[in-house]
Amino acid sequence: MSTLITGGTGQTGLKLAHLLHEANQPFLITSRSGAAPKPYKSVRFDWLDSATFENPFLADPTINRVYLIGPPVDDMVTQIKPFIDLAVTKGVKRFVLLSASQLDKGDPAMGKVHEYLVDIGVEYSILRPTWFADNFTRIFITSIRNEDHIFSVAKDGRIPFVSTQDIAQAAFDALLAEKAPNNEPYVLGPVLYSYEEAAELLTEILGRKIFYKRRTEAEHRQFFESFGLPKGYAELLVSMELKVGDGSEEAFFNIEARKKIIGKESLRDYLLASKEAFSS
Ligand SMILES: NC(=O)c1ccc[n+]([C@@H]2O[C@H](COP(=O)([O-])OP(=O)(O)OC[C@H]3O[C@@H](n4cnc5c(N)ncnc54)[C@H](OP(=O)(O)O)[C@@H]3O)[C@@H](O)[C@H]2O)c1
Repeated sequence: MSTLITGGTGQTGLKLAHLLHEANQPFLITSRSGAAPKPYKSVRFDWLDSATFENPFLADPTINRVYLIGPPVDDMVTQIKPFIDLAVTKGVKRFVLLSASQLDKGDPAMGKVHEYLVDIGVEYSILRPTWFADNFTRIFITSIRNEDHIFSVAKDGRIPFVSTQDIAQAAFDALLAEKAPNNEPYVLGPVLYSYEEAAELLTEILGRKIFYKRRTEAEHRQFFESFGLPKGYAELLVSMELKVGDGSEEAFFNIEARKKIIGKESLRDYLLASKEAFSS
């Protein structure tokens, strides 16, 4: 019995691989190139090429659990459904989907995949993380290094930024739990910060003034599109970030305990541990 990690070279996928490796649990990684960091086993897999969907099961016929990260496309469920159906025929019993805090069952993108998993009656856990602390060393890295600022359309909304390490731990726990989780927990960090407060943290940690630039919706959409994201997907990302300004993430943070997983690492912990990244 083993685990398939789609998006296994990514931020949460690779950390999940490390956790499974440390726990001596068998797993296989997918990547579009077919390569993965040593010593992990990997297969070529592309959501946009269904001819690759059999590859994981040819490489490891014992796969019975899948960590799902969908591709950033407008109609995600159409790409993913045939793979889920195939996986079920190959003996997969449990799917752990990386979704997002604001996507309810039936919403666009991962919301529709969430709905499909529930409808077909497999074991599932839909992880709904808020914004990643790791965005500060990915999305914001260039603007912090070169222009001393971070940016958002979230106004003064506060976010319990969560580290991808804590999300990987939540995925590990859901994949290996003895009992089917069949849940949809919010996955959150332990402390709320607005972007203004995050900029103050960075100022303190880096020893130079870091600003918070309030972007317009159009500027932010254009930014996401400049990464090659489809228009509809870029719009979805902007609309979710706008809701932060209305208090969406603070409300999730304050929700009853059984509906959320609170990670260990705060944004402050994450930034302190990543300090080097901002100066190189
Ligand atoms: N960043 C946030 O604040 C945030 C918050 C909530 C939810 N999320 C969600 O978290 C998910 C992961 O985002 P991330 O930025 O951390 O990405 P990531 O997991 O670091 O990278 C994406 C992964 O997907 C793989 N991939 C991309 N296109 C693919 C395709 N066509 N077929 C197969 N694999 C493909 C890539 O692998 P290869 O390149 O090796 O193929 C890579 O491993 C996304 O669904 C995002 O919406 C993000």
